[in-house]
Amino acid sequence: MLPLLDHLSGRYQSGQALAQRLGVSRTAVWKQALALRAQGYPVETQRGWGYRLAPGSPTPQALEALREGRFGAFYAYLGTVESTQEVLKGWALDGAEEGAVVLAERQLKGRGRRGRTWISGSGKSLTFSVLLRPTLPLSALALIPLVAGLALREAVGVGGLKWPNDLLAPDGRKLAGILLEAQVSGEEVAYVLLGVGLNVHQAPGLPPEAAALAEFVEVSRVEVLARFLSRLEARYAELHRNPQGFLLDYKALSCTLGRPVRVQTPQGEVRGVATDLSPDGSLVVEGQGQTCQIGAGDVELIGYAGGVP
Ligand code: BTN
Repeated sequence: MLPLLDHLSGRYQSGQALAQRLGVSRTAVWKQALALRAQGYPVETQRGWGYRLAPGSPTPQALEALREGRFGAFYAYLGTVESTQEVLKGWALDGAEEGAVVLAERQLKGRGRRGRTWISGSGKSLTFSVLLRPTLPLSALALIPLVAGLALREAVGVGGLKWPNDLLAPDGRKLAGILLEAQVSGEEVAYVLLGVGLNVHQAPGLPPEAAALAEFVEVSRVEVLARFLSRLEARYAELHRNPQGFLLDYKALSCTLGRPVRVQTPQGEVRGVATDLSPDGSLVVEGQGQTCQIGAGDVELIGYAGGVP
């Protein structure tokens, strides 16, 4: 890793000052800045002012100053990776502790749910993965993405939860997605890779149906990350004590319940009104004289233009 990264923050520092602190020449500082940018870090330069990282960047120092619990205690702030899920999987197999977090400024193969790709931009998004080692029965595994969605909504303070775990902006566009990949052997969950992608600022290449948090509230990426890790830790602990304890809070922030939906499930399309969540986290849809419980699927909110019921 280039030593300059440890010395950069959200405020400008002159090349001269950085050169002195690093014990190198100003040209060497400039070369390291270019190399960091090529690696994907959001290094900004301004004539007469010097160098900084995009304000709010989630450096280890910035996160450490805000972090409260054990989630994020082991943290890697990376430039470019294929997918943070892949990096964290390697850590999981090497025995990393629960709560370890890998965040990258740029992903070359960011993965979304159902084989989709996830687009993000350096300095613009939060794209990271959290390692969990739940001691829950397998049947409760499906509750983890719901809990993570709720923690994310609590961390950002705006928007609604589209079942199971998308966070929609107040105008109905998508702000964030969550991807859960678990390694299960028999009845045991060896580890869970919880991937979160949140659009904080508008990034080039985001599709029109995507929104950015900064359109609705003033935000700092590292503050949102620290708040999320703290809310996730609390909600996850609650899940182990009382698996259904979070459901009331989740329902209150859902933008799916009470609305007409079209759901693509592995068994085919279901249409109706989403009326409830079951204790196991599945979505209850009533329509055409039938009640269906859907464990997995892609929900389309028909005629939805924002708002939480
Ligand atoms: C979705 O499809 O809504 C889920 C998107 C999840 C994207 C995140 S970004 C960090 C982590 N690494 C990945 O490759 N994907 C997840």
